[in-house]
Amino acid sequence: MIVGAGGHAVSVAETVRSAGYELTAFTSDRDAGSRLLDRPVLADIPDEHLAAGGIVVIAIGDNAVRADAWQRLVARVPLDQLPAVVHASAIVAPGADLAPGAIVMQGAIIANGARLALGSLMNTGSILEHESVLDEFASLAPRAVTGGRVRIGARSAISIGAVIRHGLAVGADTVIGASSYVDREMPGNVVAYGVPARVVRARVRGDAYLG
Ligand SMILES: CC(C)(COP(=O)(O)OP(=O)(O)OC[C@H]1O[C@@H](n2cnc3c(N)ncnc32)[C@H](O)[C@@H]1OP(=O)(O)O)[C@@H](O)C(=O)NCCC(=O)NCCS
Repeated sequence: MIVGAGGHAVSVAETVRSAGYELTAFTSDRDAGSRLLDRPVLADIPDEHLAAGGIVVIAIGDNAVRADAWQRLVARVPLDQLPAVVHASAIVAPGADLAPGAIVMQGAIIANGARLALGSLMNTGSILEHESVLDEFASLAPRAVTGGRVRIGARSAISIGAVIRHGLAVGADTVIGASSYVDREMPGNVVAYGVPARVVRARVRGDAYLG
């Protein structure tokens, strides 16, 4: 069962299918009653799904909104029914560590010693290099790349095609713009972009997300 029924949910559905799960339905307050990818969109997760041990995958692209949805879900869904889901085409080093709720999409690469924290997200073709950490509910957009020993703070978003130099940290709730090159530490709660990336404004959790 996938929580969310937007464009991100369509991508996540392919990852879920590739990981060997049978997709039964999506849930969404807004779209309940409609259909997506030939599956029903329900208002909520049926109790029977949880009682039968069915898994739940959160497909909400906005990192802060996903984190809030997770907090509501864990009150009802056992952690072992919120597993990490990895597309069959992703490359995951044996020494990598994936927490519950992490999603790894097509062609992503996770190097040795790297860690995906709770609910974090690696989009298509992204690379998390050796000993790097994608903190809780943080995300790498398609083709975003970190060098080794990089730390991406909680709920921060590294946009499409951005590159983070090895050894650097990005604070929490920050957005790094598309195609940026980050060559120095980035604080939390900012939007930064460019080559090299520079802070362009402050943001607070809940601000508009990727523009
Ligand atoms: C960084 C970002 C969040 C800023 O969004 P925003 O605040 O709405 O910014 P705007 O679109 O209003 O652009 C403001 C200016 O910054 C420039 N700009 C925006 N993002 C930029 C970037 N990544 N690199 C260079 N310049 C950028 C714009 O061209 C514009 O310049 P102008 O004033 O000369 O016209 C957004 O541009 C971005 O990069 N989003 C990422 C999208 C993405 O990766 N999606 C993932 C899908 S999975």
